[in-house]
Amino acid sequence: MILITGAGGQIGGVLTKALQQRYGLSHVLPTDIHAGTFDGNLFELLDITDVERLRKLVVKYSVTEIYHLAAVLSARGESHPIPTWDINMKGLLNVLEMGREGLVEKIFFPSSIAVFGDEVPLDFAPQFGALIPKTVYGISKVAGESWCNYYHLKYGVDVRSVRFPGIIGYETLPGGGTTDYAVEIYHAAVKGERFVCYIAPDVKMPMIYMKDAIRAVIELMEAPKERVQVRTSYNLASMSFAPAEIYAAIKKEMPGFEIAYEPDFRDEIARSWPDQLDDERARTDWMWLPEFDLESMTKDMILHLLEQNAEIR
Ligand code: SER
Repeated sequence: MILITGAGGQIGGVLTKALQQRYGLSHVLPTDIHAGTFDGNLFELLDITDVERLRKLVVKYSVTEIYHLAAVLSARGESHPIPTWDINMKGLLNVLEMGREGLVEKIFFPSSIAVFGDEVPLDFAPQFGALIPKTVYGISKVAGESWCNYYHLKYGVDVRSVRFPGIIGYETLPGGGTTDYAVEIYHAAVKGERFVCYIAPDVKMPMIYMKDAIRAVIELMEAPKERVQVRTSYNLASMSFAPAEIYAAIKKEMPGFEIAYEPDFRDEIARSWPDQLDDERARTDWMWLPEFDLESMTKDMILHLLEQNAEIR
């Protein structure tokens, strides 16, 4: 059985479906702190800071793999630093303990572009370099990566991780992140609304389409163990753009679309993150190759969001 934490979140919702399709409804257990609707009849409430409850579920369902997605994201984390640290760290350590205790065989931990700060070249962030992040979320991901590496070296836990760029998809909405604008902008466009962007027009961030992000997780998790050489976290790259560029790509499809810029504190966070990542190690170790670029993603996003809107009406 595969257990997913944070299954009600932006990645969790889509990954749950993808894993259900791949391994069967009866082999995937979505969990979340809030009740939600999932295909099939498996679901359990789980506060990830509660290790007893986690252990109970792992034993009850004979869980062999955990995809640990529950976390507080970068922007929201800044208004609650200590609770963010507690949730993000305790959650991960509880999951890693399931590995150390020999209860589960494999663990996935999503890290992020938020691990970087000004101390690396931000135009092309290296796989290995100084990690001095400016957000609590970033600090928790840096520490989390080191804990993953430690559990692997010390206890042989098979934990695998990628540093995700901002993820864009039509199925679910992100919450509390700095890259969320790149999802919200599509929703505004298909509703015919003017979009007010909280990031300045020229601030680039690395981004990835949800379909590529999910495929990356599955490919990394299915790669032979000996190919997974980086046990902190792999840089994962796809596209990179600034608000002005995504706006131009959408305007090509929807000429009437309008944007205004009102940068807030999230703009500062975005400026401390890289424009793009060097993901050579992911490409050589487990053959990572993204498929979507800004143009093909934009076409696909608009198509699906228009369809969804038509269904709602
Ligand atoms: N997308 C996340 C955020 O913006 C970064 O991992 O917080």
